[in-house]
Amino acid sequence: MNRTFLATQPLLAANREQDAPIYLQLYRRYRQAIAAGELRPGDRVPSVRSLASELNLARGTVEMAYQMLATEGYLVARGAAGTVVSPRLANLAGPRRAKGTALPVREPPCPPIAAGRALPFQLGLPALDAFPRKTWARVAGRKLRALEMTAMGYLDPAGYEPLRRAVAAYLGISRGIACAHEQVFITAGYRGALELAHRALLQPGDLGWYEDPGYMLARQFLERAGLRLTPVPVDEEGLNVDIGQRRAADARFAVVTPTHQSPMGMAMSLPRRLELLEWANHRRAWIIEDDYDSEFRYHGRPLPALKSLDRNERVLYTGTFSKVLLPGLRLAYLVVPASHIERFTDVANHLPGPGSIQPQATVADFMEHGHFARHLRNMRVLYAARRGYLADALAQTLGELLHVQLQAGGMHVLARLKTRQNDKALASSANAIGLAVQALGDWRMRKSSTPGGLLMGYANFATAEEAAASVRRLRDVLK
Ligand SMILES: Cc1ncc(COP(=O)(O)O)c(C=O)c1O
Repeated sequence: MNRTFLATQPLLAANREQDAPIYLQLYRRYRQAIAAGELRPGDRVPSVRSLASELNLARGTVEMAYQMLATEGYLVARGAAGTVVSPRLANLAGPRRAKGTALPVREPPCPPIAAGRALPFQLGLPALDAFPRKTWARVAGRKLRALEMTAMGYLDPAGYEPLRRAVAAYLGISRGIACAHEQVFITAGYRGALELAHRALLQPGDLGWYEDPGYMLARQFLERAGLRLTPVPVDEEGLNVDIGQRRAADARFAVVTPTHQSPMGMAMSLPRRLELLEWANHRRAWIIEDDYDSEFRYHGRPLPALKSLDRNERVLYTGTFSKVLLPGLRLAYLVVPASHIERFTDVANHLPGPGSIQPQATVADFMEHGHFARHLRNMRVLYAARRGYLADALAQTLGELLHVQLQAGGMHVLARLKTRQNDKALASSANAIGLAVQALGDWRMRKSSTPGGLLMGYANFATAEEAAASVRRLRDVLK
């Protein structure tokens, strides 16, 4: 016999004479039963017809109660399969986690941020003082005045078309990626790209490889989305594909930073790239390539993107405007396989999308008119100089305690501790006095026996003196 009926009948029998109309009593009884866990997400409820006949009620009465419950999200109709308690109420009825999903025991602290200004050593922040404000304002103003009527209504959730075209053209030239603009989805930052990718291709509980150490914020984001992550160590050639295969050959996806591993800084070697593609192709797994700062390289040419080697459409490529323009824009992009455009379009239609037209339209114009390429050229020269300010200051003031091995690119350095001091404790003491260094240990998923390190951004050290003064403050903490 159906448990819903058992739960409902006594209450209705007892309450017949009460003032509340029967449909409302029925509605309340269901709500109560769901909240108390008597009815679990996914449980089927009796059809209108059978409940009406069991309780000796008019069908319209039961229908009205069911309709209210459906409108409020308690019940969902499943066509021929009947009506069930919404599976999305899992949290209401107590924890029932996807099999094998482990929530992180303790998440590392979020990196320090000072709204509207750069803290010394702040990671991932481009040079705010060198942003071409005047050009930007001119382009933005012109674009705003000339905005086409079509762009003034609701926007395509996949992004503003001229920007999608500009990104596709840019990737073709600078990253060796041949893609049509329909494959480019503009998103609200990198996490917007991850959101779109996992909703389109993955299920909660799916297992993925994650670089260890790896980008902390994306890891937390994916874990909170219900995905399970297997740490795969990185060495001087990038992600160790062999270890990934030994730990979780059947993973559904891998998230990698092949151009400039985050945070260690090495590039993934070509043999490793080929191994990774081979694994993904063989297992029908997805690779999410996070190409967050490939534009900044100070010697040699960057390897083309992993995506440019992808013959079997296993790679989802993401890039961001946070490093090359401003993080405040909250604009990134995801390049999806041509065969999956429809699937991604459908998912994007049900997500909030990349936001306002104005920044998208301005970035598109900025790219089309050559300002973007000029800005990148200027920033490459500037960052190479600012990296030198920091490296010199560290060598002079903290050479006994820290070892810096400069990588070919990026916007931060990793300073390895020469002592066995705890990098997390050091970073948190530095944070307490407004220095935004981060501990390598916080980016790790597993404990490591190798010495710790401190991650330091340099893009906002405008002069050698500024870098030196901040390094002296850091010395006081470290000693
Ligand atoms: C490794 C990595 N990937 C991606 C991003 C870009 O994130 P977003 O587009 O959300 O600013 C960052 C920013 O710091 C990063 O460090």
